[in-house]
Amino acid sequence: MDLAERVASLKPTAVNRVLQEVKALQADGRSLVSLMRGQPDSPTPAHIVDAVEQALRDGHTGYPDNQGEPVLRHAVVEKLWRDNDLTYDPHREVLITDGATGGLFTALAVLIQPGDEVLVPDPIYDAYASPIAIWGGRGVSVASSIRQGRFTLDRTALEAAWTPRTKVLLLNTPWNPTGSVLMRDELTACAEFAIERNVYLLSDEIYEAFVYDGARHVSPAVLSAEAKSRTIVINSLSKTYGMTGWRVGYCAAPAEIISAMMLAWQQFSRGPATFVQHAAAAALSGDQACVRTMTADYQERRDSVVQALRNIQGVTPLVPQGGLFVMVDVRGLKKSSDEVRRFLLNEGGVVVMHGAAYGKGGEGTLRVSFAAGGETLERGLERLRECLTRLA
Ligand SMILES: Cc1ncc(COP(=O)(O)O)c(C=O)c1O
Repeated sequence: MDLAERVASLKPTAVNRVLQEVKALQADGRSLVSLMRGQPDSPTPAHIVDAVEQALRDGHTGYPDNQGEPVLRHAVVEKLWRDNDLTYDPHREVLITDGATGGLFTALAVLIQPGDEVLVPDPIYDAYASPIAIWGGRGVSVASSIRQGRFTLDRTALEAAWTPRTKVLLLNTPWNPTGSVLMRDELTACAEFAIERNVYLLSDEIYEAFVYDGARHVSPAVLSAEAKSRTIVINSLSKTYGMTGWRVGYCAAPAEIISAMMLAWQQFSRGPATFVQHAAAAALSGDQACVRTMTADYQERRDSVVQALRNIQGVTPLVPQGGLFVMVDVRGLKKSSDEVRRFLLNEGGVVVMHGAAYGKGGEGTLRVSFAAGGETLERGLERLRECLTRLA
């Protein structure tokens, strides 16, 4: 086949690679428990399902407005004001996309030229790498450090990674896989760096609803008018409302950026299904009690993961402030994170991700998801504890 060279720069996501191993074992009849994916097990709340049925009955089945149905753009703007203290114009500063995935891809399409560099904290969600590569960009790792039991970023690390080709700093808060919620002072350091170095901030805020122990999610766009003028906020309903399969998300940014993104976006999508967009508006504008219930549930699950993995020699769970994962420091086991993951999979029948899948900075850790709860989490934690104790 004579395929485009750029295909060689693309990689399957780490989760998809591990899923292949999982499927092979399952095909041999192994029973596995998965604590791997960031897929909330809570069903989409009933009032949102009702809204999609109603939208279908109301005939919202034609092509959507390509920028996003006006009702959803208005709901996004109200949400950004209500939850994030941010003001955007629904006509010029919002684009509705197929999840955060569509938003990130489109933002990168309009920001980077071949050879430009995108700073990405290390470790981070590995699926950022290929969309950077497809547009000819180069992902450059920003070293993070573990301080007081949490991963953090600082100005020194940003400066060390900067070159004259740096165009974008990609942030994810709450931060997958580390569980850190970037504090206002950490974000201020990032924003000051971006302003002084003339760099755009691409801010993936998909886990914003899941913050624990009273932590507060802050968007870098709220820090100052200057920070807002160079920030593209990326968000999605996937996690917040248990809607991963609905494929609906949104971006907010200055009008000139949204207008360029709109131009790129329409080349490969007409947007999420029209009736889905109407239900998404109902989700954002409706009662948020369902989100509070999910968050309280996840905080309990997080606590049970941390509790189950304490007091194992060579193993230290880092308590996440947000998101759906606990990073577990297994450096004391004196094996690579992938070796530990394979041992857990093959000997214990429990699936987790190895930290190294998210960058060098993740080596020596495991990522344990608590997006699935109930019996899955209980059985998974039993197996995990038993196997890690054996390894220790
Ligand atoms: C940090 C991060 N961003 C984006 C996504 C993808 O989100 P969406 O379902 O909205 O495309 C994920 C999914 O796991 C994620 O962890």
